[in-house]
Amino acid sequence: MKLTLEIWRQKNAQAKGQMVTYPIDGIDGDMSFLEMMDVLNNELINKGDEPVVFDHDCREGICGSCSMFINGEAHGPDRLVTTCQLHMRKFKDGDTITIEPWRAAGFPVIKDLMVDRSAFDRIQHAGGFISINTSGNTQDANAIPIEKADADAAFDAATCIGCGACVASCKNSSAMLFVSAKVSQFSLLPQGKVEATDRVMNMVKQMDEEGFGNCTNTGACEVECPKGISLENIARMNREFMTASMKG
Ligand code: SF4
Ligand code: FES
Repeated sequence: MKLTLEIWRQKNAQAKGQMVTYPIDGIDGDMSFLEMMDVLNNELINKGDEPVVFDHDCREGICGSCSMFINGEAHGPDRLVTTCQLHMRKFKDGDTITIEPWRAAGFPVIKDLMVDRSAFDRIQHAGGFISINTSGNTQDANAIPIEKADADAAFDAATCIGCGACVASCKNSSAMLFVSAKVSQFSLLPQGKVEATDRVMNMVKQMDEEGFGNCTNTGACEVECPKGISLENIARMNREFMTASMKG
């Protein structure tokens, strides 16, 4: 395939960025989107130009780092995949593809397509954990009976990879889907009940401090989430927050 890439280039957080056009040839439909970016970067390096900076790590849909806004959609036109899992067969010979970084106040651009997602780490640090008794008499987690439906819902919430596509897709740059998944994965389990009040209060407070907007139920986050995290988690977090506020 022969393609035209329109890519956001920005030297650093302070610099003014711009879209730059790159023609590219010889792209196979079986390549992943990141492999196509590798081909482009090899060409740029061979010409003595600066390669396009983008985040990636696992390249198998687990780490959540390959944040790219492709043709106006987080992770591109396919559903339930990350950019590293997107195949070039989703595009046609002659296509023009626009590639931009996540755009949200909470995710400042570091360079080109790479953004700073450490706000998510700080939200996690504010409450996304459980405290474990390490005295040597710790109860085996498998010895605590849990309803199958609760275990399944907690597991589904825990599949959130912290990619930030929910924020990037939301007109309010809301991080509610991410935060609600991180709250839900604990709130549904007995191990998460002990710190439930502090967890939801502290994580929501940190989310607000990081500059993410509020949820107005547009549902774009759920549509673009590569892990299919459900809006039900936001409803659950809102209930948890209300209960915690009344206790506080
Ligand atoms: S909720 Fe979905 S889109 Fe948001 S960070 Fe988690 S996996 Fe990514
Ligand atoms: S590189 Fe890890 S999810 Fe894409």
